Amino acid sequence: MIIDGKKIASDIRAEVAAEAAAMAARGTRPGLAVVLLGDHPASVSYVTAKERACAECGIASFPVRLPADTPQEALLAEIARLNADDRVDGILVQLPLPRGFDEQAVIRAIAPEKDVDGFHPVSLGRLLLGQDTFVPCTPAGIIELLRRSGVETAGRHAVVVGRSNIVGKPMALLLGRKGTDATVTLCHTATTNLADMTRQADILVVAAGHPGTVGAGMVKPGAVVIDVGVNRIPDATRKSGFRLVGDVDYAAVEPVASLITPVPGGVGPMTIAMLLKNTLRAAALRRA
Ligand code: GUN
Repeated sequence: MIIDGKKIASDIRAEVAAEAAAMAARGTRPGLAVVLLGDHPASVSYVTAKERACAECGIASFPVRLPADTPQEALLAEIARLNADDRVDGILVQLPLPRGFDEQAVIRAIAPEKDVDGFHPVSLGRLLLGQDTFVPCTPAGIIELLRRSGVETAGRHAVVVGRSNIVGKPMALLLGRKGTDATVTLCHTATTNLADMTRQADILVVAAGHPGTVGAGMVKPGAVVIDVGVNRIPDATRKSGFRLVGDVDYAAVEPVASLITPVPGGVGPMTIAMLLKNTLRAAALRRA
């Protein structure tokens, strides 16, 4: 069975649109600043999708486009301007930044109350402490996918592959926190015999960034498999010249899993839906 991320994301976007309309009726229009440096093709496509989603849901977007060779100081000044702009409830700086930027310093410059990506050390610290906070959109979207697909997490063994700051680490915290209550194993590039770990998973989240990370022999029959990978593979039959594949060998794993997310159309649309939700939350909190 396939988990239809596109459908679930579209349900959430409808909920966001209804809430945004209610806020608008009270005289408030939520606003999101979307900052992109340079013209990396995948990043351009992500921010375009984010801005389009805002427009569809009644959220104002404030696009900020800067050249890849923008000095770090100029970027920090731009963020300070957005921090002070009352129309802006959320600030998103698309990652990865071009070479030469101090990414952590840029994230730290965002006011925590506008940190809708949940990447600020204050947000991640609050997540670690089990406090209410902005949660990074991709792992938050995966929790929502599991919930809306009726997947029981309490007492199940969740195995996360990948320890990035924006997916793997927060994913492990969310799966293990009170109320979700999975038992979590976090695997990474130094894990010896990855297959021994993944085969124990009731819920397997793969965010390694490499196609073919998980094949059929690595999945327990009946497991729920969440594929976070977005990899561009050259494909001359496509107009774009590429196609997207995940980190999981979908054709091989689909018959073994009880539920699986496709790429595209699984986790990706949820990331954007959760960004919209976080932006509404920022607006509600700031303007309360
Ligand atoms: N790059 C990859 N995923 C994300 C995301 O969720 N937010 C931002 N800002 N950059 C990203």
